Amino acid sequence: MFMENKKFNSKRSVSLLMTVVIIFGMFFAVPVLAADSNPSLADIYKDSFLLGNIISPNQLDAETTNMFNQHYNVVTAENHMKPNMISNAKGVYNFSSADAIINWAQNNGIKVHGHTLVWHSQSPNWLYRNQDNTPLTRSEARQNMQEYINRVAGYFAGKVISWDVVNEAFEGGSLPVTDWKTVTRSNSPWYIAYANGADTSKGESGADYIYDAFVFARQADPNAILEYNDFNETDAWKREAMAMMVEDLNEKWLNDPRNTDPGRKLIERIGMQSHHYTQYPPVSWVEASIQRFIEAGVTISVSELDVGYGRHNGPTNRTLTYEQQVEQAIYYARLFEMYKAYDAHIERVTLWGQNDARSWRADYSPLLFDREFAEKEAYYAVLDPSGYLMKNGLTPRSLYDLTISTDTDTIVAGLPANIIVNANAADIGDYKVVAYLDKDGKKYSDEFQLVNGTTRLTIPNAPEAGQYRIVVNAYTGSTLFASKAIPLTITEDSSEKDYTITTTYQPSVLTADKMFTAQVNVTRHKGEDVPVLVIVALFDRDERMINVSYISKDIEVGDTERLNAGFMLPVDIEGHKVRIFVWDGIDLENSDMRPLSDVVTVQ
Ligand code: XIL
Repeated sequence: MFMENKKFNSKRSVSLLMTVVIIFGMFFAVPVLAADSNPSLADIYKDSFLLGNIISPNQLDAETTNMFNQHYNVVTAENHMKPNMISNAKGVYNFSSADAIINWAQNNGIKVHGHTLVWHSQSPNWLYRNQDNTPLTRSEARQNMQEYINRVAGYFAGKVISWDVVNEAFEGGSLPVTDWKTVTRSNSPWYIAYANGADTSKGESGADYIYDAFVFARQADPNAILEYNDFNETDAWKREAMAMMVEDLNEKWLNDPRNTDPGRKLIERIGMQSHHYTQYPPVSWVEASIQRFIEAGVTISVSELDVGYGRHNGPTNRTLTYEQQVEQAIYYARLFEMYKAYDAHIERVTLWGQNDARSWRADYSPLLFDREFAEKEAYYAVLDPSGYLMKNGLTPRSLYDLTISTDTDTIVAGLPANIIVNANAADIGDYKVVAYLDKDGKKYSDEFQLVNGTTRLTIPNAPEAGQYRIVVNAYTGSTLFASKAIPLTITEDSSEKDYTITTTYQPSVLTADKMFTAQVNVTRHKGEDVPVLVIVALFDRDERMINVSYISKDIEVGDTERLNAGFMLPVDIEGHKVRIFVWDGIDLENSDMRPLSDVVTVQ
């Protein structure tokens, strides 16, 4: 019943089928094999977040470069973009080490994250102290800060994607946090200088340096994403203080006359340093921080991840036994499963060290590779967190995880759009799911609630062309437990294009012994009135085409047609794929056809 090929006589159908077979022969003659037995971490996570590591100028050798090319797509300078490395006296700037790193990164197609502009540590005295070590005044320190950030963030503009603008500004607090300024690090030399001359009657305090730093950074490099970065970000008081500060300063920025882009936040991202131990903190605390930071309206980077074996001040261990490696790997697996669950808001995960020897916490063997660069259990855990947990008899989070899909990846600017969103969190009993259109953290549609796993996002007028996302948030009660996103392109007005094509299919994952049906909606905007051909083909694990169904229809300019095709799936479905092709069948007899859209693959 799906072979609605009413336009064909049988001779045409045979030659068409031949054409199809020949085309598939060309497509799949060369099997694509995994080139390496040691898969790329960055590839595994490419749809979720950037994956990074750190480097120093004396490590730009071939071995390290190969390792980066294989596993990472973003780099942070471990030390050489810190203030003391760049400027040891007022007016004196030395970018040579940082340049070496940036040139290396550019040559290898690796993005650079800037670390760090304003910090109490690894920074030169001139910024905030006199020669005799007495603090500068608030206004002197402010001027120096502006000069430094202008010079440095200005110099690296276009070369870094993001900056840790302020690093580690909190210390020594406890719950409840009522005013975040009272739990900032008051012995930071920046705080001390800013307090020197602060008019407390006007509400000024030493903590004001934080806001200034972000404003100066925005002005010096408007294209960089600005991050606030801190450690022990899983402590309840610090989580709260960080979130409150971000909310407060972003609110303040809304009314700042220097704000020329009201849609954009000042502090756009929180960096969770994530210097963990296998025994501390519990992974659930990490999750609570992710949830709180999402609520604060910013994205997240996991900026300096390492998981030392044991606990703080516990016995150190430079060679882990297999069992210890597994324990550490399980912690990594839990973390990465969770990062994936919230990947709509996590933009980058950077490991703080290439291997256990090259680690600032080498005594705790905290990384994915051992001292000889060999993969540890932790590496395999990061590669496949759910699989790793199951292998060790543990229940993976992914069993309860949210899977999402939509019926389209493009809509047209200015036109109405109806997007079907499916979400499934199979084993969570009672949950609520909402979906909305988003770009750079800003909502472009209402929030639509899903009922029975499906909703329709009705958008009366799609916004201007660009790269958007459909964000899907899942809650149990009022607690977010997953947040995923699907990319969505909004294209220019369709009058420029010949066709608009949307493809939907069911079921969303190939299921044994079930009917598979694809529906392709085609609107022809201009061109000749020629038939459009849809082919749905099933391939087995050896890439042999074992079933095919096709349909063709004439579509006149201005018309939309729905083309359905499908077949029963076999009982043995493992490793099979369905590919859906849409062709412009200008001359089917001579097989002069051109593809109208990307091939959709269903696994
Ligand atoms: C560390 C480096 O890894 C060491 O080489 C250096 O001696 C000290 O700093 N938080 C940060 C990083 O933001 O800059 C620190 O890096 C680790 C803690």
